[in-house]
Amino acid sequence: MTFSILASAAQGAAATPAWAMLAYLVSGVFFILALRGLSSPATSRAGNRYGMIGMVIAVATTLVTHWPMRLGDAANSYVGPDLETIGLIAAAIAIGAVIGLTIARKIAMTAMPELVAGFHSLVGLAAVVVGLAAWLDPASFGITDAAGQILTVSRVELGLGIAIGAITFSGSVIAFLKLSGRMSGNPILLPMRHVVNLGTLVAILGLIAAYAVSGAGGAGEGQMIIWITVLAFVIGFLLIIPIGGADMPVVVSMLNSYSGWAAAAMGFTLSNTAMIITGALVGSSGAILSYIMCRAMNRSFISVIAGGFGADEAAGSGEAREARPYKQGSAADAAFMLEQAEKVIIIPGYGMAVAQAQHALREMCDMLEEKGVEVKFAIHPVAGRMPGHMNVLLAEASVDYDKVFELEDINSEFAQADVAFIIGANDVVNPAAKTDKSSPIYGMPVFDVDKAKQVFFIKRSMGGVGYAGVDNDVFYMDQTMMLLSDAKKMVEEIVKGLD
Ligand code: TAP
Repeated sequence: MTFSILASAAQGAAATPAWAMLAYLVSGVFFILALRGLSSPATSRAGNRYGMIGMVIAVATTLVTHWPMRLGDAANSYVGPDLETIGLIAAAIAIGAVIGLTIARKIAMTAMPELVAGFHSLVGLAAVVVGLAAWLDPASFGITDAAGQILTVSRVELGLGIAIGAITFSGSVIAFLKLSGRMSGNPILLPMRHVVNLGTLVAILGLIAAYAVSGAGGAGEGQMIIWITVLAFVIGFLLIIPIGGADMPVVVSMLNSYSGWAAAAMGFTLSNTAMIITGALVGSSGAILSYIMCRAMNRSFISVIAGGFGADEAAGSGEAREARPYKQGSAADAAFMLEQAEKVIIIPGYGMAVAQAQHALREMCDMLEEKGVEVKFAIHPVAGRMPGHMNVLLAEASVDYDKVFELEDINSEFAQADVAFIIGANDVVNPAAKTDKSSPIYGMPVFDVDKAKQVFFIKRSMGGVGYAGVDNDVFYMDQTMMLLSDAKKMVEEIVKGLD
């Protein structure tokens, strides 16, 4: 029955009416507006709405132009709507909508990367299923020549769509398992993995080329398609298992890009312009985001893809750390010193998200401003666990956007700051990134908090480490006061102290 739905979707694909082409174009414009809107917290809600409108237009246009029909015995005689197929489509949309809505309502912000990985796996699987359906019943998809053979160009699209879809599926499943803690985040390094991976990729490309030029049909072609599918599932798995937890968010963004290209390839097979546009937008934006994240972590894209990062520090993080003297303070101490300050720079990180301390933090910020203290927020591009994580949380707490600054715009201001207020951040303020070549975060740009007169560091205990699992010299600096507590609790107590 799936094939009948897909086939009905493909029927008439060759003759997409002009109004539908225009509607697809309009949906494409909405998707571009959505991406534009999502690039800033101030416009992100509007961006989401544009995306929804674009998707409604695209889905409705596809449904109307490929309306499932029952045909009579005489050629092209229309008997009535194909209610069984329409019912199946409606059921699929309803089930998907309920599942999507439930997950979106329940998901914690910190679990977003694994959710995205889970969703990408479905996009990949859909591309594989559509590709296999088109291979099994090419006439319904309008991709055959006069002799009934699949066109060469469609063979290339089909092969690539299935291969990229299968890689996206198995890769995303592994990323989901690693991010959700169901599988160890440590890299699994198989012997000769680069040779095996390269060999498998070359074999997949060779099979796609052989399938494209074969043109004979029959069992031989079937075997090629099956091998392409199986090898692509395997390579997706092999490519992701050697990648350590620290690089997983980059991998998720890269798989996002793959899923876009798989959808675009399938858009060609289905002659669906909206799918081609959307796939290309997802593919290119995912690739750009992966590049930006790699740059922010000072990691080369190739080294992320090659995998293995995280193996050493994973082993090292279990080692006992040398106990060093540090100063511990209380909320009352912090409140007193904050009141005396002229300029405070707040650096939020993953711990603020865990503690959901953003609302209390805004309250603290408001009170300090009432007392004449200048307060700014410094956001590192990879603070938290996903791009824009901190911006979203601060926006949720209605912190003014003009108080929020990017790393390169505020780093020089620490020298004039009375207090650097670190709340749940760790790696993004670790000076080892600048000085210790053996550190896993070496080369990552970090905030120069050591230049501030005072540093307040909120975390739960001295034992806890950041994402990279390494010690942080900032804990032990003369001007640092450790505020050991849950971030929300500590900020609420500071607010009481400021009253
Ligand atoms: P982390 O280095 O992960 O440090 C988190 C800190 O929060 C720890 O010091 C932890 O110490 C503390 N913490 C956790 N729960 C807390 C709570 N309830 N209350 C108070 N403190 C709490 O965070 P970061 O500085 O934001 O750095 C992000 C890291 O993730 C970087 O290494 C980055 O490369 C990596 N990463 C991020 C991304 C994106 S896109 N954001 C992508 C890939 C990788 P305790 O356990 O002692 O409390």
